[in-house]
Amino acid sequence: LAPGAAMLRGFAREDDAALLQAIETVAAQAPFRHLVTPGGYTMSVGMSNCGKLGWVSDRSGYRYDPLDPLSGQPWPAMPACFADLARRAAAQAGYEGFRPDACLINRYEPGARLSLHQDRDEKDLSAPIVSVSLGLPAVFLFGTDRRSNKPQRYRLAHGDVVVWGGSARLAYHGVAPLADGEHPLLRRRRINLTFRRAG
Ligand code: SIN
Ligand code: FE2
Repeated sequence: LAPGAAMLRGFAREDDAALLQAIETVAAQAPFRHLVTPGGYTMSVGMSNCGKLGWVSDRSGYRYDPLDPLSGQPWPAMPACFADLARRAAAQAGYEGFRPDACLINRYEPGARLSLHQDRDEKDLSAPIVSVSLGLPAVFLFGTDRRSNKPQRYRLAHGDVVVWGGSARLAYHGVAPLADGEHPLLRRRRINLTFRRAG
């Protein structure tokens, strides 16, 4: 992808059943919801979180919050299979000792998209981002740290993992509108887990 970034094809495949089970458990406690951006736009991607911190957006801005604003309770704990997968993927990409404290869970339905952005709300930018794709395939846009550089397009399929850190840590990235389809495990959905060291 770029220096500091790696594409690990199929890395999460053999864990898919355990991951999906854990996602259900998290979502039972912290349901997917469509957040509103500071500009007042409702995001097409449904979001939840687990771990010590969760990424949230509302009219006042973006932030990491230890509490789920829907319930006022802490986010569900990060399942062991999540943290373990993220640590192994980071190590495979050259980032030893990654210990995520936040996992954003994104749910895409046909047409949902994520516009080009940087992940820059994390306190410590020395840790990489680990992104796990499940379900329907998506087109991932991955550029440089300048928005004006046209991003490359990559197809992300079930089980693919992308890691970016180092000189790629502030790369602009996004997801093109999800094409409809039918996935054997996730039907008409894509789920993405992004692991961060946020606090
Ligand atoms: C993200 O940038 O938070 C998610 C990327 C993806 O869904 O692949
Ligand atoms: Fe992101």
